[in-house]
Amino acid sequence: MNPHVESALNDQVKKEASSSQFYLAMASWAESNGLNGTAKFMYQHSDEERFHMLKLIHFINERGGKAIIPLVEQAPKEFENLENVFELLLAHEIRVTESINNLVDICLQQKDYTTHNFVQWYVSEQLEEEALARTVLDKLRLIDGDKGGMYMFDRDLESASVGGAGQAPQKQ
Ligand code: FEO
Repeated sequence: MNPHVESALNDQVKKEASSSQFYLAMASWAESNGLNGTAKFMYQHSDEERFHMLKLIHFINERGGKAIIPLVEQAPKEFENLENVFELLLAHEIRVTESINNLVDICLQQKDYTTHNFVQWYVSEQLEEEALARTVLDKLRLIDGDKGGMYMFDRDLESASVGGAGQAPQKQ
């Protein structure tokens, strides 16, 4: 496997692992604050990020590279409020999209069209995840802290889906 591409793919493994832990911290925070719909949404989102990581690991190993299982940084223990949680989620996803775009660039520079093709799944996934995060954040801004609105928001999140490309599990 092209070493530049392998290194970029392993960087992405780390980012997906960090994403999974970050959303797990959000899920745990929501659960401990009685926001069960948000917790369910975030636990599933965390699982999906792990799925993204595993998909990369399998691809690297199957193409003759060596996947590196990373250490991840400590995730936050506290969040200010729900709006803050989703602002952080959107900002995080925007950074992941930049990283995926960088990976696409490296594939093209190195003329690795097989990996370029593989990475397109992540390009589509990022589009979907950013759009979902923006929609959720717009709703939260409309509610503007109203308690009844927050209750409905949390309940509605239980039935929301963050699945992408038919691969990740859907919310129940
Ligand atoms: Fe796998 Fe949400 O980026």
